[in-house]
Amino acid sequence: MRREVLNAGIVGVGVCVPDRILTNAELEHMVDTTSEWIFSRTGINERRLTGPEQATSDLATVAAGRALTNAGINPEEVDLVIVATNTPDMLMPATACMVQERLGIKKSAGAFDLAAGCTGFVHALTVGSQFIAAGSCRTVLVIGAETLSKMLNWEDRSTCVLFGDGAGAVVLRTVPEGSGILAFKLYSDGAGGPHLLIPAGGSRNPATRETLDGRLHFLQMNGREVFKFAVRVMGEAAEEVLAAAGLDKSDIDFFIPHQANIRIIEPAARRLGIPMEKVMVNVNRYGNTSTASIPLALDEAVRDGRIKSGDYVVMVGFGAGLTWGAVVIKW
Ligand code: ACO
Repeated sequence: MRREVLNAGIVGVGVCVPDRILTNAELEHMVDTTSEWIFSRTGINERRLTGPEQATSDLATVAAGRALTNAGINPEEVDLVIVATNTPDMLMPATACMVQERLGIKKSAGAFDLAAGCTGFVHALTVGSQFIAAGSCRTVLVIGAETLSKMLNWEDRSTCVLFGDGAGAVVLRTVPEGSGILAFKLYSDGAGGPHLLIPAGGSRNPATRETLDGRLHFLQMNGREVFKFAVRVMGEAAEEVLAAAGLDKSDIDFFIPHQANIRIIEPAARRLGIPMEKVMVNVNRYGNTSTASIPLALDEAVRDGRIKSGDYVVMVGFGAGLTWGAVVIKW
């Protein structure tokens, strides 16, 4: 007998960003750079930074609480918590368990972290939607939360100017057939792993004096290679996910690309034939917040009315792994 497949959709959104704003002008006093270089190469003006007392779970918990309030759902109703992050509070336990405990979510709820570079939110959304589709969960909390500022080498101008901290969360539930998450595509190319990594702190290079002296606990990136890869895959992934949903580029009402660099977002929009009014851009205010970037962008577009009920919304992410992926949603 064929089991019924349920449609998962987003019924609540919430975000949390730290108060502290770090401007390009301030960075001029920290590393050998200029505001003009940063803005012209990336589109970033400023980013948010956590203080020493704040960790990823702190932002994640607030964002998730706000998403539940927005959905009108009590924490006790949550069946599963997924936190997509590259900067967990600790290597173990999972940040998702900390969020579960702090929000008062029941102990019978599952909770785990998911690592897929900056594409983590797209992966977590996809995984969460499958629990709903299978009928094994009624309410799933999906969070993208990041404190990359803690993993940056603040003496490396080629990376420290790019990233920011933040968290965004969505609540998934069953929605009427024909709406919600219509299709998804996930991709990976492990051969590209060396282009974007934090080399030490795991089982390959456990912490030693040498790894500390070598600054191997900080993010390293081959920016040019990641840039070329991102420009290529953003448009491709969007086209493929639209085809999987039986839609065409002309059907897109709103496009939410991972907010890494305006010079990656614009070519993707051109390839898809979408005018920039239909493309979410807030990289100028938050920098690249990794797994938080898509939910931060989604929250803003929903709140200011740029996404309306019935719109076809395409989200595309890319990042370390290398990974990339896309989701199409009927809002
Ligand atoms: N200020 C001034 N000069 C700088 C800075 C800076 N902050 N950073 C680098 N430069 C210099 C470089 O040293 C280089 O100098 P050189 O030519 O003398 O060697 C010069 O500027 C040009 O460097 P490029 O790397 O060619 O600059 P590019 O135009 O490619 O821009 C950037 C660099 C912004 C990093 C770009 O390559 C990019 O956006 N790449 C993608 C990054 C990305 O999206 N990463 C996130 C992935 S998601 C995740 O999973 C975390």
